[in-house]
Amino acid sequence: MSEDVDALRARHLAELAAAQTLEAVEAVRVAALGRAGTVTALLRALGRMPAGERLAAAPRVQALREELSAAIEARRRTLAAEALALRLEAERMDMSLPVPPEPQGSIHPISRVMDELAEIFADLGFAVAEGPEIEDDWHNFTALNIPPEHPARAMHDTFYLAGDPPGRVLRTHTSPVQIRTMTGGRPPIRIIAPGRVYRSDSDATHTPMFHQVEGLVIDRDTHMGHLKWTLETFVKAFFGVDDVVLRLRPSFFPFTEPSVEVDVGCSWEGGRLQVGGAASWLEILGAGMVHPRVLANCGLDPAEWQGFAFGCGIDRLAMLKYGMTDLRAFFDADLRWLRHHGFRALDVPTLSGGMAP
Ligand code: DAH
Repeated sequence: MSEDVDALRARHLAELAAAQTLEAVEAVRVAALGRAGTVTALLRALGRMPAGERLAAAPRVQALREELSAAIEARRRTLAAEALALRLEAERMDMSLPVPPEPQGSIHPISRVMDELAEIFADLGFAVAEGPEIEDDWHNFTALNIPPEHPARAMHDTFYLAGDPPGRVLRTHTSPVQIRTMTGGRPPIRIIAPGRVYRSDSDATHTPMFHQVEGLVIDRDTHMGHLKWTLETFVKAFFGVDDVVLRLRPSFFPFTEPSVEVDVGCSWEGGRLQVGGAASWLEILGAGMVHPRVLANCGLDPAEWQGFAFGCGIDRLAMLKYGMTDLRAFFDADLRWLRHHGFRALDVPTLSGGMAP
């Protein structure tokens, strides 16, 4: 009997130590302490022993039973804890926000100026309108009072597209967005339309693709005074200068009557351009009252509606504001230039925060 007790202890403890799952532990329990288990059989055998022998054997068998049930329980707890630890590791969720890496990219000066334009004009009640870069002849020219034989067409250095449908061009200005806005909705209208335009021209101050912003206001009583005030308000906000002087020179555009070219007063102090005052002049845009024929082409009665339009080179504005000298640098994708002139991605222009960085 004493050998049986020691042998069973050793066997079952070894089995327990080898058990790697809760099911294996349970199998050891059933084999030792279950109804047909080895230890249970020993306990039963006690009853059949003569009294003297039983007194000697009983405490040892009882002790074995208690030791084994304690060992089984301990092994069970160890395995459960290990299983939980594994599960916690596998299902771990990082609830903390990742620290964003230092942004590598930057906002291109053109995008920045477009954002500034949208911000300034939104404050004046203008919506942002868009049109396609591949335009048809009618929207780009004819509807704007530039009929097929008009000499103004030659000035546009137009890129014509081959293939069908015929008459497609890369828009030479943002003015066709005026047409699309007037044919697409009823006045009153107040929009700006920034975007890419294309002309076959390339030197230090011309690139085949560049950017313009178009402005259009149509209402019943809109006049040149509104145009001048709007442009002054815009230029003041854009350059962050209060003593802005605008000079409106008579000019000609087929789609406006009267037409003006607008110069902004500036000075060249120490070779650097300063907007403000009237020491010198820089042309910044073309504008005028929308030609009655353009209104009529869009289905608006010129006796009822009138308004102003303007068109302005965005690249030019950026160069003036940020002191860049060569237009081609805008399109070189030179990282050093972009890092020098670019803007931080989260640095969004707001009127309250100021336009000038
Ligand atoms: N579309 C003209 C150009 O590209 C610019 C322009 C002039 C637009 C006068 C206008 C305007 O809206 O009124 O040269």
